[in-house]
This record gives sequence, structure tokens and C-alpha cells, in this order.
Amino acid sequence: MTQTRYSEWWRRSTVYQVYPKSFKDTTGNGTGDIKGLTEKLDYLQELGIDIVWLQPVYVSPQYDNGYDVADYEAINPDFGTMEDFDELVQELHRRGMKLMTDIVVNHTSVEHEWFKQASSGKDNPYRDYYIWKDPGPDGGLPNNWQSKFGGPAWQFDEASGQYFLTLYDKTQADLNWENEKVRRAVNDMMLFWAKKGVDGFRMDVINVISKDQRFPDDDGSVPPGDGRKFYTDGPRVHEFIKAMYDEVFGPYEMVTVGEMSSTTLEHCIRYSSPEEREFSMTFNFHHLKVDYPNGQKWELMPYDFEAMKRLFTQWQTGMQQGGGWNALFFNNHDQPRAISRFTDDKAYRVESAKLLATTLHGMQGTPYVYQGEEIGMPNPIWKGIEEFRDIESLNMYRILQEQGKNPGTAQSILQERSRDNSRTPMQWDDSPNAGFTTGTPWIKVDERYPDINVQKELADPGSILHHYRRLIALRKEHDVFVEGSFIRLDEAHPEVFAYARQAEGAALVVVSNFSGKEITFRFGDKQWAELGERSGQQLLIGNTAEAPVLAQELPLSPYASYMWLIRK
Ligand code: GLC
Repeated sequence: MTQTRYSEWWRRSTVYQVYPKSFKDTTGNGTGDIKGLTEKLDYLQELGIDIVWLQPVYVSPQYDNGYDVADYEAINPDFGTMEDFDELVQELHRRGMKLMTDIVVNHTSVEHEWFKQASSGKDNPYRDYYIWKDPGPDGGLPNNWQSKFGGPAWQFDEASGQYFLTLYDKTQADLNWENEKVRRAVNDMMLFWAKKGVDGFRMDVINVISKDQRFPDDDGSVPPGDGRKFYTDGPRVHEFIKAMYDEVFGPYEMVTVGEMSSTTLEHCIRYSSPEEREFSMTFNFHHLKVDYPNGQKWELMPYDFEAMKRLFTQWQTGMQQGGGWNALFFNNHDQPRAISRFTDDKAYRVESAKLLATTLHGMQGTPYVYQGEEIGMPNPIWKGIEEFRDIESLNMYRILQEQGKNPGTAQSILQERSRDNSRTPMQWDDSPNAGFTTGTPWIKVDERYPDINVQKELADPGSILHHYRRLIALRKEHDVFVEGSFIRLDEAHPEVFAYARQAEGAALVVVSNFSGKEITFRFGDKQWAELGERSGQQLLIGNTAEAPVLAQELPLSPYASYMWLIRK
């Protein structure tokens, strides 16, 4: 392990993810905006954040909250203006912070000019920007692929008698990456933002851009059998990404993260190893599917804790051995809140939030904090179906009932699984609407905001927010966070996740009780011996009043979590 291998600055950084629609509204229209983010940069800087990931603010009909882009180079008026954007970049840079924007190029909105042209006739020069197919031999769909948001992945175009591919919503038409002109246009668009001073990109579902050109039916032999095996980490995906690197990411020294849907470790090593010249790091979602029975998101089950630990271990050790780099996260705008899902967001909300943070931030990778996570926002209390806004959730509400579920059951599934769980407005203070807007918020504010808000967290030195601040600072202070190898220490314990990070001269040890029980955890003799000399130990961070010494037997209160540093 050489120093140069880990020399890039972003390996010590923490990224803060901003869902602009729900962050801070400065106009009173009920929708967050770019100026709202600029207003809060001091808050983020004090937290220790050095990269802000801003989700899509481009012109869009907003069926999928901006992931349906109608113009890649213009700002949606709801979010502000290009001047606001330039000011954001300037204000970030003035503070030594960086901006990562969201690039959504698997698909465009059907309202994008390219699609309008393409659907105006078979001879239009833009026709080949998208994926068109004649009906199948039976006159129906071209194949049996399913949309990720429910229903078939094809939409019929009356005018031409052909279908076009939509792997996500029916208003999100998949771009044809086989067409060189599409690749050229995407690179030009990214160069436009790079020249504006954007420092990095988060690449939306980028591992599905290259489709198997035979477009075969899925025989269902590999679950979930919806066609994904024919486009996930597809035939030319690495070639396409390398071309982006050569023209854009490399020359502008950008920090990039690829969102990888249903991917594999082997592919992520390739996507994120510096010598491959593709991305800086990757998101994968395997550790967040541990409560999907047979991979089914829309069915409920308690999560499989052992599977989660096994997946973290595989990705920690596998990425390190292969030279890849993980983006570390428990939360984002597509996931229910982790404290509600994996811990106890009621009796032990504060302990739970700190436990998840400590467990995640001790690992190798670049941690991501999703807005509200740092103040322990739980899933909101939903009162009725009319409160939901997300297109995927509303589609599934209908489909679940078509499958025979009654409305009550369908709604209770949504309450656990809906992406809206993480999309309610950021809770700044105890004023009306949590200080998010003076108008009517586009989605309801969770009623617990008088207790759970930034103002309160800032004032309390023992708060979740200060815990995050400390973790973010520790990563910058100690090389072992970046360099240490990962060793699992808990031998499939039913309640505890324990691991070490070993580097030359130092080790980290993290022990977390993921249960509401008082327990005593005992390191196995082998694991204890592996830790070696422990005399130079120091508790770096914990979430209880006690500051226990690292010992082979550890009493752990509910959701207790500790991180020690051992200097050797
Ligand atoms: C990604 C985004 C999600 C969006 C989808 C389609 O998964 O995170 O919000 O709906 O891509 O663009």
C-alpha cells in the first residue's frame, strides 16, 4: 500500500447530498431553490463538508423531480436562474468547497427538444437519438422488458407505429448510446458545465446506458427477470465511460461518482480504479436490498442483518483488493430513512442515528450525508395516500392493487418503501413549515419538526449533528480511515457489527450494537489476538455517557456504538 495510491484529495472528503426541491425555499413558492442552498453554505462548511452534490436543477416537467430533463443547459425557473447557479459556484469556491452536479443521460424527458424532433417522423435526423423498435411478431411489445417504475418498458408512438424504450418512467425515453452523435452531445453538455466551474459529476444510473443490441426477451432464469441482465453493466459501458473520462473528467480533474444499478463488485472495481480512467468511485445498492424478499422491493420483511454485514465486508475487502473506491451511504433521495429502517427511530432515535453514522464513516470510501440525516430525520408520519408525490410510489400503489392488495395494505407498503420518506422538507427550525418555506410546501413537512430541527441540533453539543461533525473531521485527521484494510470482527453475531481497519502504525476498531437490548459482546479469541497490541488506545467517538476501554468483553447498552483508535 503506497501513499500515492490514495493521494487524491476526495478520499478524505465527505459529500453532502442536496435534494434542492426540499432543501430551502427563498421565494415562498413552496419549492426549494438554488439561492436557498447558497444561503446554507456556512452551515455545510461548519459541518466539515467539502463537496456538495446538487441534484438536478435543469429545465424539466418534474414528473420524476428533475430526473426527466428537458434542457440540459438551462435552469428550471422553479429553482432560480443561471446567475443563481454561477453565484452558488462562486460562493462554494470562496469557501474552498466543491460542487458536484447530477448528470442524467440514460434518458431524457419526452419534452426534450431531441425527443420532440425524434418523434416527429422516422426520417428526422434526431430519430436515432432514441431506441425505436417495431412491434413484436404478435403485433405487441417488442420484448418483455419491464420498467423499473412498474409496467412494460416500451411506449407506443401512434404516429410512426413504433415503440420507444423507457426503462424508468414512461416520460423518460432512453437515449441510444450506440449513436455517436448522442455521445458527442453528452460530452459537449458536460464540457459546458465543466467550463462553468463545476468540479464533479454524479452520474445517474450510468451503468445501464449500453443495451444488448439484440434486445432479447428475458427468460426469467435470473431474478428478477425484468430484462436488466441485457443492459446492466452492458456490453460497451466501459468504453463509453472511458471516452467521457478522456474528454471531460480527466482534463478537468473532476471528482465523479457513478450510480450503479444492480451491479457487480467486478464491474465496480473497473469503474473506480484510477488506472482504468473511468470514475472516482461508485454507489452500489446491495446492502440496501437486505429487506427485499427475493429482490422484491414492494414486499415487506424485517431486514437481514447478517446479509448486510456480509455485503459490507465483501465490498470493503473486494474494492480494496481490486483498487476500487466505494461511495459510502445509508441514505439518499431514493431510499427510506435508514434510522427508521434498520434501527429504532422512536425510543432510541439519537443513539440510532449516531450508531449508523459511526458504523458507516469508519469504513473505507467517501461518505455521503443526505440532507436531514445529520439531524436524525426519520420517515415522516404519513396520514393518507394523498400525501404522497413520488411517481414510482403512485404507480406502485395502483399496481399493488391490480395485483389484489387492498388499498390499506398498499398504503402500508408505501409507508415503508416510498421514496417520499426521504423527500419531505429539510427541518431548519421550529417556525411554521420548519423554516423551509413561507408558502405551501410541495410535499408535507413532517409534524415532528418542532423537536427535530437544525437549530436545536446546533445548540446541543451532544447532538447528532455534532457527532457527524466530529466523524467528518476525524477522517481528515487520521490516515487509517483512508488506508486501513477491513477486518470483520463479530463472527456473525446476531446483534453486533464489529470491524477493524488496520494500517501501518494505527488501527481503528468499531463496535456497534444494532439492537434495543443490553448485551455483552465478547471478541472471539482469534479476532482479539488479530488486533495485536492495544496499549495505545483512545476512544475517538461513541454515543453513550460512558467512555469504555476497548476490552475483549464489552457491555453494550441499546444501540451503543464506539470507535477506538489504536496507535502501534
Ligand atoms: C436514479 C435517481 C432516481 C431517478 C432514476 C431515474 O436512480 O436516483 O431518483 O428516478 O435514476 O433517473
